[in-house]
Amino acid sequence: MVNASDFKDKHFISMMDYSREELDYILSVADKMVDISKESSDLAKGKVLGSMFFEPSTRTRLSFETAMFRLGGSVTTVADPMTSSAKKGETFEDTISTISNYVDIIAMRHPDSDAALRAKKVAKVPYINGGSGTWEHPTQTMLDLHCISYAKGKIDGLTIGLVGDLKNGRTVHSLLKALRQYNVKVYCIAPEALKMKEEVLEAVKGKVEVIQVSDLAENMPHLDVVYMTRVQRERFATQEEYDKVKDSYIMDRKLIEEHGKKDVVIMHPLPRVNEISTDVDDMPNAWYFRQVGHGIYARMAIIALALGLWND
Ligand code: CP
Repeated sequence: MVNASDFKDKHFISMMDYSREELDYILSVADKMVDISKESSDLAKGKVLGSMFFEPSTRTRLSFETAMFRLGGSVTTVADPMTSSAKKGETFEDTISTISNYVDIIAMRHPDSDAALRAKKVAKVPYINGGSGTWEHPTQTMLDLHCISYAKGKIDGLTIGLVGDLKNGRTVHSLLKALRQYNVKVYCIAPEALKMKEEVLEAVKGKVEVIQVSDLAENMPHLDVVYMTRVQRERFATQEEYDKVKDSYIMDRKLIEEHGKKDVVIMHPLPRVNEISTDVDDMPNAWYFRQVGHGIYARMAIIALALGLWND
């Protein structure tokens, strides 16, 4: 049986590290955080979060910091790597070892795909992966699962479409890995050049039914949840390569009305560029801005558990 002590002092690195029971437990704590976030809590009083973002972020950084403040703790931040001593040539490992002396928990985003795995070898306090290159973004997955549960009342039994840049998108890598623990069917909808990474497909093989297709409209009628993603311009070697695929999928009102289930849930980790038209924003199917709010609850739960502040 899973309980709070199983998460105390543990790093939060990859969705491959969690069983179904552990995911259910974290989501149940996130449920409790919905009410706690509305009141003032002193659960994390005296604790400090090191919020280290070496790549741009709006949602992940601000929701981690807000989560810590809502728990009654404090935050110290690096939001621009140019202002850290990494710029002077300090190694990543030395940076993590140093920060471990100042704070009780680290939330970090880094452009290198192996950053989180390297950090966990040297961090003396819990290290939370806030996005590691194109590899994984596991706390995004916890908020995604929490949001899907709220929107549909369940996760098991759903058919979920992951759409867009499935090669470079770390959010969909973590989400598909987590979905191996649920009874779901997953459509991976991408052009040839942006297909889901083979290593992720290998990781979930035999655990979840994955159907790889490229046509969104044709497959929309099957989907209970559509998880749109941005084509990640920053991961392309040339502008020409990006231009070839940047407009692969555009979700708009007409597509939903003509091809979607009436209650289809449209999600997106954000930021969006043009892959969801603004004419979807006021449809009841649009969940992406409500999805953002679940980041506070999920990250409050992850922080409280890693710091050993939560009791069953
Ligand atoms: N979803 C997400 O990771 O957003 P940010 O890049 O703004 O943190």
